[in-house]
Amino acid sequence: MAARNPIYVALDVPSPDVALKLAQTLGPAVAGFKVGKELFVSAGPELVRQIRGAGASVFLDLKFHDIPNTVAKAVAAATRLDVQLLTIHTCGGLEMMKAAEASAQETARSTGRPAPVVLGVTVLTSMSTVDLNQVGVAGDVARQVERLVGLGVQAGLRGFVCSPLELAMLRQVVPDSTQLVTPGIRGPGDAAGDQKRTLSAPEAMEAGATWLVIGRPICASPDPRAAAERILASLSPA
Ligand code: C5P
Repeated sequence: MAARNPIYVALDVPSPDVALKLAQTLGPAVAGFKVGKELFVSAGPELVRQIRGAGASVFLDLKFHDIPNTVAKAVAAATRLDVQLLTIHTCGGLEMMKAAEASAQETARSTGRPAPVVLGVTVLTSMSTVDLNQVGVAGDVARQVERLVGLGVQAGLRGFVCSPLELAMLRQVVPDSTQLVTPGIRGPGDAAGDQKRTLSAPEAMEAGATWLVIGRPICASPDPRAAAERILASLSPA
């Protein structure tokens, strides 16, 4: 039996035309596409509709962080767009996270579609312990990640985004059904770029990832479809 395809391709491109072309080329070889701030601000919800219209799943990575009412409304709008995964910042607090999850569930019920998984983002990987201390958070990054994930679980979140090196630790503290989504995936021959803490795709799956977000190793390859297929093949049992 073929293994489940866990690959979400990060469409980190500025133009909707390039994004759509990549989505068409890669669609059958991956689980779905991550649309982030750059692409969403330039191409808007219509691009999400087009990707969904072509049958692919969408991870809307806009990292909502605002008062609970505003985040709930943004999550409702994303649910109406029929995305499968979306992100919020866990440091928005317990009430904000509860409002986001409730909004996803209620909107899904009223529109008759499955609720998207609301993923909590913890400490951005661009932040060090020193950066955290500067904004008034005592303790180190690992402790803050664990604290925020605990709060997210309490709020009813069913998934989190984490670095590959946090997977094993988080698997010990989250319920078994929790979805863990990880970027920072690099194979032995890939350029790391600005990613400092990486695992390969099979290593990340072994460590407990549910979904892998992969950008440049696929999109910057001369043959993106072949690159995606190679990564998928590396996950199949020999
Ligand atoms: O090109 P690359 O594979 O590094 O792309 C990874 C994707 O995951 C990018 O869209 C990046 O913004 C995102 N991401 C990340 N690290 C995080 C959170 C998101 O690399 N901590």
